[in-house]
Amino acid sequence: MTLLLATAFLALGVGAVESAPVSLRLAAAKHKMRIGTAVPVGALDDSPFTKLVATHFNVVEPENEMKIYGLTKGYREFDFTNADKIVAFAQKNKLEVRGHTLFWHLYPSQWLVQGNYNSSQLTEIAKHHVDTVLGHFKGKVREWDVLNEAFGNKGELVDSIWFNNPGIEASGNKYAYIEKMYRWAHEADPKARLYYNDFMCEMVNTKSDAMYAMAQDFIARKVPLHGIGFQCHFDMQFNQEVPLRSFQENLRRFKKIGMDIQITELDVRIPNNSSEMLQKQADLYHKVMKIAVAEGVSLVQLWGCTDKYSWVPRTFKDQGWALPWDDRYQPKPAVQAILDALK
Ligand code: XIL
Repeated sequence: MTLLLATAFLALGVGAVESAPVSLRLAAAKHKMRIGTAVPVGALDDSPFTKLVATHFNVVEPENEMKIYGLTKGYREFDFTNADKIVAFAQKNKLEVRGHTLFWHLYPSQWLVQGNYNSSQLTEIAKHHVDTVLGHFKGKVREWDVLNEAFGNKGELVDSIWFNNPGIEASGNKYAYIEKMYRWAHEADPKARLYYNDFMCEMVNTKSDAMYAMAQDFIARKVPLHGIGFQCHFDMQFNQEVPLRSFQENLRRFKKIGMDIQITELDVRIPNNSSEMLQKQADLYHKVMKIAVAEGVSLVQLWGCTDKYSWVPRTFKDQGWALPWDDRYQPKPAVQAILDALK
């Protein structure tokens, strides 16, 4: 039996026989932390992938399948096929589903852009989207990114179809359009936990200051925002004392005002996969996990688990190898580094 288990875990790429057959999710549970991974629907036919996810994680997030372009084909034309496949996989394996994302200005659907909708039509579309999607996934999706990447690096709200082109009736306070989205989402599924998700806001900086101000305002006015998702797409520049300390301080301030804090898209891209570089990568994973534990991060979610499906090589020039398992499902030093941080 022991031998069988050891063999099974070896096959899953957990590590050497001597290392304890412990999964990331079991290790994280000791800290009341959940561990998630992004899942692209295409990977569900790949059995090493599904085994790895079902062994090590307890949360999955569709990588693109719950974005507007993943869910719609046209005005009031929804297609839940791909998202439902991921939800079914999750249910079969007793994993929770994190929804991503009701609204995002990037990758807009063609029908939405070409429709030239005016503000009141767009408001109707947005509300209908929230009602339909949250209605469809009610009881199946525990938490949602309602809005993704709405702030720019100067703390400004970025131009978007939802904000100002033409925008969904943004009047009064400057977060009016965002406030609407969260209120609609809460009405549509009062049990869903609602997050704001962004990148380059991991440290205390102008962007995270703007998010912090919004969170404070929403808390004061009882707008249903429950937490913040920090994407955490890192490179080795982040592996220094100053950014890491700032990251920790930032998490702490959001938590202190009552926000649930989550790491939602962690990956650590590197310029080559030499053993030296893989060690440095493991070191950053370790430090990030230590900070997450110390600050009470409720979910650490990786933007995938194997390099086989990672968005990094197709997005960042000359960078890759960003995830803990390589493209042949072999664990890199990062796997053990994460486990060590969760001890
Ligand atoms: C990325 C996906 O990984 C890619 O497959 C897709 O082509 C573009 O989007 N921030 C986010 C994620 O919030 O939704 C993005 O995902 C990565 C950056």
